[in-house]
Amino acid sequence: MAKKLKVVLLGYMASGKSSIGKLLAEQLKLPFKDLDLEIEKSVGIDIPTIFNKKGELFFRKKETEVLKELMNSDEAFVLALGGGTPCYGSNLQIIDSQTEHTIYLRLKIPTLVNRIMNEKNQRPLVATISDGELPEFIGKHLFERSPFYSKADIIIECDDKSIQAIVKEVVEKLV
Ligand code: S3P
Repeated sequence: MAKKLKVVLLGYMASGKSSIGKLLAEQLKLPFKDLDLEIEKSVGIDIPTIFNKKGELFFRKKETEVLKELMNSDEAFVLALGGGTPCYGSNLQIIDSQTEHTIYLRLKIPTLVNRIMNEKNQRPLVATISDGELPEFIGKHLFERSPFYSKADIIIECDDKSIQAIVKEVVEKLV
């Protein structure tokens, strides 16, 4: 039996994985899944509370567990990963063993800094970084993570593009 279509969106925090994923899923007539939401459902508390109460190590273990379950399921879907998901343990191998449709939503550092500056509180990894230190933090962090993101099958440059335009580009590249 042919494998069910799994489209996986990856990219740094605030790169639009969830909003682009929702519209993409609608257009492809597939269910949309958000890995962070699936982790929250599985643990029963939200991501900032998981980080605060249980720590990042617990979060990363859960992230791999929930990812494995989804990727090994017989379901078709569009899945938005968390920003760190492809960069830990065997997550990228788990994903690549089940799909050839991984998409990196790439944004430049200043765009990411602007977006994240306004939403720091919901993001445990940057919540305690001062506004002044944020550009350097994001620059270094993205530099460390880029080798993982760049392994995606498709890379989309997202700066200055609408969600609709990005989704259109993804759909064209998928067929
Ligand atoms: C993380 C990104 C978050 C969430 C967690 C860790 C990361 O997801 O998974 O806070 O390591 O970059 P978003 O990319 O949806 O913000």
